[in-house]
Amino acid sequence: MGFPKHRLRRLRATEGFRRMVRETALSVDDVIMPLFVRSGKGVRRPISSLPGIHQFSPDTAATEAVEIEQLGIPATILFGIPDQKNSKGTSGWDPNGVVQSAIRKIKEKTSNLVVITDVCLCEYTDHGHCGVVDGDTILNDPTLDLLAKMALSHVEAGADMVAPSDMMDGRVAAIRKALDDSGYSDIPILSYAAKYASVFYGPFRDAAESPPQFGDRSTYQMDAANGNEALREVALDLEEGADIVMVKPGISYLDIIWRVKQRFGCPVATYNVSGEYAMVKAAAERGWIDERGVALEMLISMKRAGTDLILTYWSKDVARWLSESS
Ligand code: PBG
Repeated sequence: MGFPKHRLRRLRATEGFRRMVRETALSVDDVIMPLFVRSGKGVRRPISSLPGIHQFSPDTAATEAVEIEQLGIPATILFGIPDQKNSKGTSGWDPNGVVQSAIRKIKEKTSNLVVITDVCLCEYTDHGHCGVVDGDTILNDPTLDLLAKMALSHVEAGADMVAPSDMMDGRVAAIRKALDDSGYSDIPILSYAAKYASVFYGPFRDAAESPPQFGDRSTYQMDAANGNEALREVALDLEEGADIVMVKPGISYLDIIWRVKQRFGCPVATYNVSGEYAMVKAAAERGWIDERGVALEMLISMKRAGTDLILTYWSKDVARWLSESS
């Protein structure tokens, strides 16, 4: 009788068919591994809220970077935990700071690994905010110069790309100009363009020892209820010279990834943030969910939504999981 004519189950019947019609793929080329760096030697300190993730000293970060490169992961992003914090975060542009030292060590030991650096004041300021503070106010314009200094100092140490995560207005233009003026016009900027004021960052703030000491980040990071505003943020960052734009967090913001990719068609990155990782780890530890299955499903959903790159604490696992399954 020919009913039903269309049976979508036909192409689901075998692994061969499923492989042939699979629309999206997650590849090791898509992931970027975050690394937390502090001072010292031989440090490999576990972070309790991020099981499997550590704080490294520059030497052990380099060893870790070698492993990351050997796993086929194309890039790492560095976050610094300095010994000294002050109101302006001046340790952020110390040529011998933790990130600068780690970059040099990593560059000595690896050959093609792309080294990206997070550019933000919150890890370096005693108040834990991403900008210069006046009373309870986070100042925009006086922060720009400091971010530009930090970005330039990372590049001078050998960073391949800089990633401003502060959400000050105009920072991409300020950083672009500082890099261009110093002869680094070929260094790309990965801007945290649509970065939301999210409670999913909780475990990261333990890892980077960077929680704000008063208030929260809602006067500079975006309101979770806003989507159109994300497109404006992205448009401005692209206009100011961003090469890749990021949506952050990932899993609760798939609509934003989709809209950004549809509208601009530019390279898009997504940050699969600490809280997204930690909650899966916690549930998996209790035997409630399957970590590998959930992680891969989350990451493929970001790819399906249109992201090109994913910053994820699962990067090393992804490399292993994908090589096992092929
Ligand atoms: C620094 C920064 C944060 C994250 C990346 N860069 C924290 C924040 O804005 O409070 C969060 C990453 C994560 O949660 O994994 N501004």
